Order: sequence, then structure tokens, then C-alpha cells
Amino acid sequence: MIFSSALVFFLILETQARNSTYRNPILPGFHPDPSCIFIADWDDTFFCASSSFLVFPGIPIHASRDLQKWKLISNALSRPTQVPGIDTAKRATSGIWASTIRYREGTFYVVTSLVYDDYPKNATNRFDSFIITSKNPYNSASWSDPIHFNFSGYDTSPFWDDDGTLYITGTHAWEVEPGIQMITLDMQDGRVGNEVNIWNGTGASAPEGPHLYKKDGYYYLIIAEGGTGPGHMATMARSKSITGPYDPHPHNPVLTNANSTQYFQNVGHVDLFQDANDNWWAVALSVRQGPDGSYPMGRETSLTPVTWNKGEWPIFQNVTGHMSGWYPEPKNPVEGGEGSLIGSAAHVDFASESSLGPEFVHWRVRVDGSYVISAPGHANSLQLSSSLSNLTGRDGRSAEPGGQTFISRRQVHSLFSFSATLDISSLRSYEAEVGVSVFLDQLHHWDLGIVMGSLASPPKTSGYGGPASNSTTLVPYLRLRGITTVPTFVFPDLHIVPFPTGWSGQKITLQITASNITHYTFSAGPAGQESLMQHIGTAPGLGLTWGFTGTLLGVYATTNGGLGKFKTYVSDWEYVPQGQVVD
Ligand SMILES: *[C@@H]1O[C@H](CO)[C@@H](O)[C@H](O)[C@H]1NC(C)=O
Ligand SMILES: *[C@@H]1O[C@H](CO)[C@@H](O)[C@H](O)[C@H]1NC(C)=O
Ligand SMILES: *[C@@H]1O[C@H](CO)[C@@H](O)[C@H](O)[C@H]1NC(C)=O
Ligand SMILES: *[C@@H]1O[C@H](CO)[C@@H](O)[C@H](O)[C@H]1NC(C)=O
Ligand SMILES: *[C@@H]1O[C@H](CO)[C@@H](O)[C@H](O)[C@H]1NC(C)=O
Ligand SMILES: *[C@@H]1O[C@H](CO)[C@@H](O)[C@H](O)[C@H]1NC(C)=O
Ligand SMILES: *[C@@H]1O[C@H](CO)[C@@H](O)[C@H](O)[C@H]1NC(C)=O
Ligand SMILES: *[C@@H]1O[C@H](CO)[C@@H](O)[C@H](O)[C@H]1NC(C)=O
Ligand SMILES: *[C@@H]1O[C@H](CO)[C@@H](O)[C@H](O)[C@H]1NC(C)=O
Repeated sequence: MIFSSALVFFLILETQARNSTYRNPILPGFHPDPSCIFIADWDDTFFCASSSFLVFPGIPIHASRDLQKWKLISNALSRPTQVPGIDTAKRATSGIWASTIRYREGTFYVVTSLVYDDYPKNATNRFDSFIITSKNPYNSASWSDPIHFNFSGYDTSPFWDDDGTLYITGTHAWEVEPGIQMITLDMQDGRVGNEVNIWNGTGASAPEGPHLYKKDGYYYLIIAEGGTGPGHMATMARSKSITGPYDPHPHNPVLTNANSTQYFQNVGHVDLFQDANDNWWAVALSVRQGPDGSYPMGRETSLTPVTWNKGEWPIFQNVTGHMSGWYPEPKNPVEGGEGSLIGSAAHVDFASESSLGPEFVHWRVRVDGSYVISAPGHANSLQLSSSLSNLTGRDGRSAEPGGQTFISRRQVHSLFSFSATLDISSLRSYEAEVGVSVFLDQLHHWDLGIVMGSLASPPKTSGYGGPASNSTTLVPYLRLRGITTVPTFVFPDLHIVPFPTGWSGQKITLQITASNITHYTFSAGPAGQESLMQHIGTAPGLGLTWGFTGTLLGVYATTNGGLGKFKTYVSDWEYVPQGQVVD
């Protein structure tokens, strides 16, 4: 009697201790197409990679010891020479698509493809598939130059069979020749074997995102189908032979939120891994879709527990904001690495001798010399050299000669406040502009800028340059404007606000906050005087809900095509989390 009640008591304690809840997404914000592994040899640590498209540095690598506290430890792409194509690819859907991270015999592998999404679907140079490796993923510089291989498709994923043969699965452009394809690859010389079409999926559109696993004598293949939108889902098939034939799961899809009213939508693109206790887990991409259909943060990484019994198919728990399930005990974050925990507040003062951490990203490759920390005479600030191009550029889809001066970070909270203080004293030419932006891509961004104009000829809400007459005194204006291609979208208020008297000669703080899950609010005021902040306007996240990426928050400096290149100084860069909405 005594023993059994003690046993019951112990079991209850165990259950309470270990059946805890956790929250999705585990990697909020622009972290799509997740791939994760667990490495016991590296201090029982989980590592994840996600897609970065044209954002650079690219392929962020996050690490965690408890699946909850994730630290950005490096960017696998940090040298422009690794991916020169980032600057020649046109169209915001181009760039680095889904990556797969794997570990084998002391080496980390990331296999991915750079996609030139503006090329014809059947162009053989549309896809540049490659592998990069690292022996220390805590260091961006450790990631190798690419080893390219010939596979005219995307979503490439490696699988080493027991005999050491390396197989790569991937998919073709589905409009041309559908289906999941497999090749062998010799890493020594980059030679590939003949392509085998191993599965076409269940018949939904865009069979893609394949990963192979070997378990209990079967090769299990999981793929994404239905497109990375409302019909997105994960489906599975298995075979006793790696080349097939693959038998589909009798009740596909194995995971989806399609046709549900969940806040988390577009769930799919799954990778599977096991923790130290042999429990299975899946990561999937998901979006948090607001009541108006908006999800400006884009595709994020969610986690779900999986039950996978011997010889059987895995069973996935559906993805929601609050999850309950078994999870490893809370542990300290990983030590080392270059970045900070995802979700932490950031106050950056650009102290001399400091460097821009891995959270700082640019649209395409950073132009050398345009971003200088604590330039002489400007301690604790970041010097930006203006670019000729604004954030849209000439055609909204190409890299700009001289770049687009823009430095940013991901939006990773539903509710947040982002601000930066700007020194505008060197803005002297018509349409010279410095400002803050919530930026999805060149054709989708809302900007609050301080822009020079004359009283006779205020800055325009659109257009390029203007009457640069020397006889006119230029004065700063506050301008809220933006661009979107989302068809259902109603253009936001456009505001040209004369600069309040009394602000001149002072540094100005510009701020973006999320008013709620659907709208952004823009405000401005003289630095250090919060009570004087003025509301300038609001803009909807729906206009930034498009394509494959997620919103960035940052500072830009441009002459809008005019002459009069200038330098401006950014200080007190601040990102303050104000809440995560998960249901
Ligand atoms: C965990 O707890 C939840 C509710 O508290 C319950 O529904 C679920 O069945 C439990 N799961 C396990 C594996 O014990
Ligand atoms: C690609 O497709 C277009 C139109 O479908 C066709 O005209 C062209 O010849 C094709 N090119 C190649 C390389 O197959
Ligand atoms: C790449 O592979 C395709 C067939 O999959 C072949 O037609 C093409 O010639 C190969 N290209 C190179 C450069 O080897
Ligand atoms: C996939 O579909 C193509 C036709 O579109 C067909 O030729 C091929 O045999 C199919 N592959 C498999 C593995 O069923
Ligand atoms: C999971 O979601 C799918 C799609 O909404 C639904 O069909 C299924 O019943 C859900 N499963 C559970 C266990 O709630
Ligand atoms: C969702 O519903 C549509 C319309 O009924 C159906 O065609 C589609 O297959 C469903 N998707 C999933 C993943 O169940
Ligand atoms: C940016 O510059 C282009 C010309 O290069 C111009 O057409 C466009 O209106 C400008 N506006 C914005 C919001 O970027
Ligand atoms: C403005 O002044 C500069 C030199 O001071 C001169 O080169 C330029 O032509 C003048 N522009 C106009 C529009 O008068
Ligand atoms: C969010 O805030 C905007 C701007 O203040 C407002 O127009 C909108 O109705 C709000 N939406 C919700 C769902 O509260």
C-alpha cells in the first residue's frame, strides 16, 4: 500500500514535470523552410537552418539545448564570394531557397539552392545547387565555400545510406516536370549519378521539400505539397528500397492546418529529428494569419511532437500556438556563437571596436564602406553613406548599382517597438532622405523618412528627384509612404508633414510600432524627448503579405536618384519586444 501510493505520487510528479506546454513558433519571424538536427556529440544540442532568399548574410543557424531557447550562432553565408548570384538574381522570390542541415562524422553540412526565379521555368541555369560545410557552426567564418553540383531543381536534401553513398533528393520546377527526384553525389569531384524520379506525391500541386530517413528497414520520404499557401501540407511515402517504389501513407496528409480556422496556417515543409530521449520531433513552416488575411512576418518555424513506433508511420500533433507534449527539461541556452537569443530586446549603441552582429542583415550584399561604426568624430553611431537608389530602386526587382543603403533586423514579435535616432544635419539636396522602414522586399515596404524639400516644391509622394534650384532653401519634411503589389490592398494614408518648428538642429528619433497584429504605427520626435513623439500615420501589414520572405525593420539613406550624396549617423538602435500573439 505504502509502496504503491508512493509510486503513484512519483508518477504524477514525473508527468507534471515532463508534460509541459511550450509555445510556437519556436523561431518567430522570417525563418521559413526549417531544417533541424540533434547532435549528442555537441553537448546534446539542436541546430536549425532556415531560408534567407536575397537577405544577406544568409542561412541563419540557430542552436538550442531545450528546443525553446534558441540562439542565433552564425550565418552559413557571410561572404559575398560564397554566393555572388545574390546580386544578379532579380525578383524578390529569388535567392537562397530551402536548406537542409545535417551532421556526419564531425562535419556539419548545409545543402541548398540559389534560385534565379526570374529565369524561365525550364532554363537549365535557373538553379544553382550547392553544399557548404563547417566543423564549427558557432562561427560564420567556418562555413566553407560552396561545392556546386548539377541538379536542375530546388529543395535539395542529403541522405547518407549505411554504405556511405550520398543521395540528394530535390524537386524539379513543378510546372515543367513534376516530382521528387534523387541523384547520387560524389562530394570529392561533384559528380552526380542519373536522376531517379522516386515519388510524385498525392497529386496536389508543387511536390517539394523532400527529406529521407531510414528507420526499421524502411526509407521514409516526407515532402511538402499544395504550395506554400493555404493548401500547404506534409505527405509521406515509404519503401524498402531507396530508389522505390514508394508506397504512400494510407491517410495522407500527415500534417496540415488546411481547411481549419487555426491562427497558424500554411503548415508544411517538415523535417524530423530525435532528442536525447529518442522522442521524435518535427519542425514545419507556418504563418500566423490575422483576421484580415495578413501575415507580414511571413513563414516562421514551428515545432510539433511526433509519435513514431517501430515499423509504423509517424503520428504528428497539429501545430498551434500553445502546444502540450513531452519536451526536454529546460536547460541553459547554448554557450558561444555570435548572436543573441531569438526574441531578446536589442539596444545597440555602435560603440567603437564593436561590430555588427549576425542579426544585422541587408537586402542583397552589403556595399563595403556604406556602414561604419563610430566613424571619426561620431562615436557611438553608425555612419550610413546614402545610396542613389531608394528601397524600391529602378524596377523593384534588380540589384542597384551602388546598392541600397539599408541595415535591418527581422521582426520577430507580433507586438514590438523599433526606433533609431538620426542625425540629419548633412541632408542638403532635394529629395535627400533618411528613414525607418518595415520592409518585405523592394516592391513591398512602408517607410517613414525625413526628406528634404522646398516650401515652393514639397517632396513628392512618388517620383524621382526634383527641381534642384540653388536659390530655394531646402527644409526637412516627414514623409510616410510605401509601395505594395498586393491587389486587395487599400493604399495607406500618405503623409507629408512639415517639420515641427523647434525640432530643427536636433537629432530625430523615428519609431515603428505594431499597433496591433494587423497594423504598423509610425511616429517621430526630437531625440530623448519621448513626450514630444508625434504620431505620423499607420499602414497595414496586409500590404506586406506577399511572396516567401518576412518583414525586416531597419534604417535607410538615399538621395532618391538625386545628386548630393550624404552621410548620416544612426544612434540608439532599439528593438523592444511587446508581446507575442499565438492564438
Ligand atoms: C499532457 O497534458 C495535456 C493537458 O494538460 C493532456 O491533454 C495530454 O494528454 C498530456 N500528454 C501526455 C503525453 O501525457
Ligand atoms: C522552355 O519552354 C519554352 C516555352 O514553353 C520553350 O519555347 C523553350 O524552347 C523551352 N526551352 C528549353 C531549354 O527547353
Ligand atoms: C546536368 O544534368 C543534366 C541532366 O540531369 C544534363 O542534361 C546536363 O548536361 C548536365 N550539365 C552539366 C554541366 O553536367
Ligand atoms: C510521375 O509523373 C510522371 C508524369 O508526369 C510519370 O512519368 C512518372 O512515372 C511519375 N513518377 C512516379 C514515381 O510515379
Ligand atoms: C489536425 O488538423 C487537420 C486539418 O485541420 C484536421 O483534419 C485534424 O482533424 C486535426 N487533428 C487533430 C488531432 O486535431
Ligand atoms: C481543403 O478543402 C478543399 C476544398 O474542399 C480540398 O480540395 C482540399 O483537398 C482540402 N485540403 C486538405 C489539405 O485537406
Ligand atoms: C523610389 O525611386 C523610384 C525611382 O528609382 C521611384 O519611382 C519611386 O517612386 C521611389 N519611391 C519609393 C517609395 O521607393
Ligand atoms: C547650383 O550651383 C552649382 C555650383 O554652385 C552650379 O554648378 C549649378 O549649376 C547650380 N544649379 C542650378 C540649378 O542653378
Ligand atoms: C489595428 O489598428 C489599426 C490602426 O490603429 C486600426 O485601424 C485597426 O482597426 C486595428 N485592428 C484591429 C484588429 O484591432
